[in-house]
Amino acid sequence: MYKKFANRAKEIISEMTLKEKIGQLNQITVTPYMNDVEKLRNMIREGQVGSIILASTATAGNDQQGRIDIDMYNELQKIAVEESRMGIPMLYGRDVIHGHRVVYPLPLASASAFNDELVEKCYRNIAEEAAADGVRWTFSPMLDLCHDPRWGRIVEGPGEDPYVGAQMARACIRGFQGDNLTDKKSIVACAKHYLGYGFSEGGRDYFRTEISDITLQNYVLPAFRAAVDEGVATVMSSFNDINGIPVSGSKKYLTDILRSQLRFNGFVVSDWGAVQMLIHHGYAEDRKDCAKKAIEAGLDLDMCVRCYIENLEMLVNDGEVSIENIDTAVERILCVKLAMGLFDRPYGEKFDYDKEKHLKDARELAAESMVLLKNNGVLPLNKEANIALMGPFTHERRSLLGTWTLDGSESETPNFYEALKNALTNGKLFCTDTSRTYDNSSEISSRADIIILALGESHWTTGERHSVSDISLSKDQIELVNKMHATDKKVVGVFFCGRPMALEGVVENLDAVLYAWHSGSETANAACDILFGDTVPSGKTPVTFPRRSTHIPLYYNTTSSGQPVNGYYGQNPQWNYTDSMASPLYPFGYGLSYTKFEYKNLSADKELISLDSLKLGGKINVSVDVSNIGEYDGKEVVQLYIRDKVASIIRPIRELKGYKKVFLKLGETQTVHFELSYKDLGFYNENGEYLVEKGVFEIYVGENCLTKNIITVKVN
Ligand code: GLC
Repeated sequence: MYKKFANRAKEIISEMTLKEKIGQLNQITVTPYMNDVEKLRNMIREGQVGSIILASTATAGNDQQGRIDIDMYNELQKIAVEESRMGIPMLYGRDVIHGHRVVYPLPLASASAFNDELVEKCYRNIAEEAAADGVRWTFSPMLDLCHDPRWGRIVEGPGEDPYVGAQMARACIRGFQGDNLTDKKSIVACAKHYLGYGFSEGGRDYFRTEISDITLQNYVLPAFRAAVDEGVATVMSSFNDINGIPVSGSKKYLTDILRSQLRFNGFVVSDWGAVQMLIHHGYAEDRKDCAKKAIEAGLDLDMCVRCYIENLEMLVNDGEVSIENIDTAVERILCVKLAMGLFDRPYGEKFDYDKEKHLKDARELAAESMVLLKNNGVLPLNKEANIALMGPFTHERRSLLGTWTLDGSESETPNFYEALKNALTNGKLFCTDTSRTYDNSSEISSRADIIILALGESHWTTGERHSVSDISLSKDQIELVNKMHATDKKVVGVFFCGRPMALEGVVENLDAVLYAWHSGSETANAACDILFGDTVPSGKTPVTFPRRSTHIPLYYNTTSSGQPVNGYYGQNPQWNYTDSMASPLYPFGYGLSYTKFEYKNLSADKELISLDSLKLGGKINVSVDVSNIGEYDGKEVVQLYIRDKVASIIRPIRELKGYKKVFLKLGETQTVHFELSYKDLGFYNENGEYLVEKGVFEIYVGENCLTKNIITVKVN
């Protein structure tokens, strides 16, 4: 996709000086130059700036960021285009992670919707809004799979499953980049953080990772394979090391795997300062050594620490770095700038868009992301009920937007109290004061038919540099749950969280549990849509909910081990720990509806298929009848898992290989079809070679990873 611009790029490169080439490999933020703008203008005029990041700090996710001044950025761009010798436009990038002015659910929440079309539509909206603000490149989607919800950045990714990771990668990139990268509503996407950042030891941000090549190939890479296959224009190299080799200085990861194996041909940008961090890793002597190691590894654009601009010229002139390395990096960057039409349209131009439609889409995605974890019949609520509302999130706005929200408006975000008040018809709403003492909780609960607790975690305990050691609910909230449980009223817990929290001992004291996540601008309204039944819940957990923090890591796509001790699948969980039950509180793919679905007639069109016919495109056609036997119309995420029973490298007990979200009217039955082919049944060996082996495959189709609905097919 980008290679087709190589000839034009080479023509441009042939006229460039070494300084100008290195300038293309330099990304800055304008913040340090605000007191000396003439210095900034001169740098641009001399072709020393290839890209500008629209962020003032390295952890934009939770820091207040400046608004985008499109006129200022256009004025700087004019210098690059009209006053520099080569006239190469700069590429403006910003962390438009899960929304811009209108904010959508955190990526982990969006993954809960299991609705790729809806995610794509919403990410198209995001691109349109960002482009209308002059942003041409976003550092999204984040594709770091994770087993450890203590890690604050689990909320930015697609959860624990490689198939969901791949689907989210595709949907987000299609949304951002559209069918045509030159379209004024399209922005360049960035698959990050390549690679393995989600495996940071102990969930401690930036820590080391230990990832075998088998795990890397089969678990960490699939989302990036999908991103490259979907045409992502850029990849961001991560902070972490893998097995002692920092990714941002590694030819194995940035060239051998990313380029030779995945066939990526866009450009690689470092994470903020990751080039210079090679010193702190103990992998490089000094900044000059950093620049040498990173450029030779295949890292093209240095984010914000000037290692390249201050050292590469000397390294080339001293013969320590080849000019070919420089030319290759410049070519990759120019190919993307040409592919997106930046030379033809270098300036940001504001344009109108339908914000009401975006809000409507955001509300739809938020509602489809929310997961009903428990309901003993108390939901949906009646809009004429008298409700007692209490808890720390009754009037919260900012946290509902989630971390990595740079341009959403806290003041424009409805809080839960307002949304409930707006949703009730004749019912009354009694609310405790917003202190966390809940002194009048007994009094107001006595006047209500039902109690709703607005619980959760602040966005401050999620995101970059915001991991926690304990994912339990705060003590004051647990006390409130227990206090209200002691009343004679039904109690509904609504959880506004970024990550899965450990809720053992809490959910038992609630009559219903709605996991609303941090779902963006329309979180509160969407939660009410669910609570009152205007939307029937359909979200499913894209990540396991452990009972307690001490059970981490706990994930569904684990292997069997040599004895029946996999507590996740009910195999003697008491043998895992003597002091607690090691099965999940809620497994992967779990979520309730207000209606009930029944699965019948799971079948495959063949019990036997040869490996050769699979290689020639042969398929296994699987079908199942799903019936809505409950009392509401609703959507069900029908999930298909496989298990390769015997293989040369032991395979997980379950691997998600497909899902379909189907709408079923009350009483309706649909036959849902899946196709399994060669690409679904195999795995990668440590060298990245894909193979499918003969033997028995179990096929499971059902409502979550623990479904007992099984058939088998043999590959011979
Ligand atoms: C940060 C984050 C990365 C972000 C980048 C630019 O440190 O790790 O996700 O895109 O810097 O803000």
